[in-house]
Amino acid sequence: MKASPQGLTTTKAPFIEDARRQGQLYIHQPYELYSAENHTAWRRLYSRMEKRWDRYANEHFLRGIANLCMSPDRVPRLSDINQFLCPLTGFQAKAVSGYIPAFLFFDCLRQREFPTTITIRDAEHLDYLPEPDIFHDIAGHVPMHTDKAFAEALVRFGNCAHTAVEMVAGISDETEQVRRLTSMIKAMARFFWFTVEFGLMRSDDGLKVYGSGLLSSYGEIEHAIEAEEVQRYPIQLEWAINQSFEIDHYQPLLFIVDSFDHLFHLVGDLEQWMLAGKLYNVAPGEPEIGEADLTSFLHASAERGATG
Ligand SMILES: [Fe+2]
Repeated sequence: MKASPQGLTTTKAPFIEDARRQGQLYIHQPYELYSAENHTAWRRLYSRMEKRWDRYANEHFLRGIANLCMSPDRVPRLSDINQFLCPLTGFQAKAVSGYIPAFLFFDCLRQREFPTTITIRDAEHLDYLPEPDIFHDIAGHVPMHTDKAFAEALVRFGNCAHTAVEMVAGISDETEQVRRLTSMIKAMARFFWFTVEFGLMRSDDGLKVYGSGLLSSYGEIEHAIEAEEVQRYPIQLEWAINQSFEIDHYQPLLFIVDSFDHLFHLVGDLEQWMLAGKLYNVAPGEPEIGEADLTSFLHASAERGATG
């Protein structure tokens, strides 16, 4: 069946395909293209999550959702979200056509921009996610960006990517340069995964969720808190950066932070360890670092070398 020219459904949006074909990473949100079915998908996703957020989400997220005045009924306009978000922490959601190579992604965070997918999953397959969508990015991530301490942790994380680039900029042995960089990117990816995407937080009211992968998943948010077989441990940086993960099933291992100040300090430690060279040899295993991610760091490194 031929794809409809209208609609911004994940993997079926001609607008996105065109942008990708033209090599455009940063795009605008063509709001008029959302179909009635796209808005239905948003409404269904949002309404079934509300009770679960009330029960399992951390208080910063719940405050964030309220502060952003997100509509439960329609796909949000990024410009409306940003109007509420920007005055709080300086962060903005920035529309992208899809996957952003790792260095560019982290560099956006450093500039308080969050690369945001604008397509939405199929209304008939709410649990099937071939790639991130606007519900994951806007309902899962962006409410956290209204919190000052969390926002500072993200910016500091973006700084780590620059530190990694500086660490390898002067290395003339290309094989060694790639080896060290790959290990540092792996450490960053694992840390990001176990905190920003799948983190848990201690609260007076028991364990709560702050990771966006959990906040946007109807099934896993409950599983993360309730399932007996999930291992939940206080985070230790040395463990998080050496621990592999798989993306295609519920996470069997989750790490707990005490607060976002705690998270901020952990990112600081990550950077210090990087500067000391401790991240050149993290444990092998997932995630594998793709060519595009590595190249994005190498480009930044070559530019750094060129400008001294
Ligand atoms: Fe995410």
